[in-house]
Amino acid sequence: MTVLKINIAIDGYSGCGKSSTAKAVAKVLGYTYIDTGAMYRAVTLYFQRNHIDIYNEKAVENALKNIEIRFAFNESDQKAHVFLNGEDVEEQMRTPEVAAFVSPVATISSVRRFLVHQQQEMGKDKGVVMDGRDIGTVVFPDAECKFFLVADIDIRTERRIKELKFGGIDSSFDAVKHNLIERDFIDSNREDSPLRKAEGAIEIDTS
Ligand code: DC
Repeated sequence: MTVLKINIAIDGYSGCGKSSTAKAVAKVLGYTYIDTGAMYRAVTLYFQRNHIDIYNEKAVENALKNIEIRFAFNESDQKAHVFLNGEDVEEQMRTPEVAAFVSPVATISSVRRFLVHQQQEMGKDKGVVMDGRDIGTVVFPDAECKFFLVADIDIRTERRIKELKFGGIDSSFDAVKHNLIERDFIDSNREDSPLRKAEGAIEIDTS
């Protein structure tokens, strides 16, 4: 019997529980979970390490030619890690330094084209749960199931602090809250694929 697979798009602000939800849904359905934020973070890490001037279009386009991103399942913590040019950067890309720089990087159209193409390839045979900011609007506008998550800013801040602490990073409430508000603003107001609730998406307040 052929089991028909679908794609599930989960969009929303940072810290609304997108990745926890997507991971759990993928596990239940036996689908592949793809964290697209991790892809933007890996590109950001590459730019930081190689001192790429993100306001120089040519430099960004040349740098993208040297970036290869893939996911591989890690047995020890039972989750997919992101690999940047063959190196597992799961930890390095979750730092506050990357968080501070990732939203401006995600405004760059060439970066978005580069990553969106890869995301569409990953989902072309269906059976993926993908979370991000533009999955239901741009990457898979035809996804059979779309969700848009929202949550109270203070609760999102607490969640992010807990997540960072789990990774061994202590951070202040105000600094994390400020970073979330700033990223929400940039993500929602950029010209290319701003964060929006997709048509037909089901909104869930996870507060
Ligand atoms: O989900 P996250 O916090 O790891 O995402 C990091 C940044 O990447 C976020 O500020 C916005 C950007 N992003 C995006 O523009 N489009 C996506 N599909 C996923 C993330």
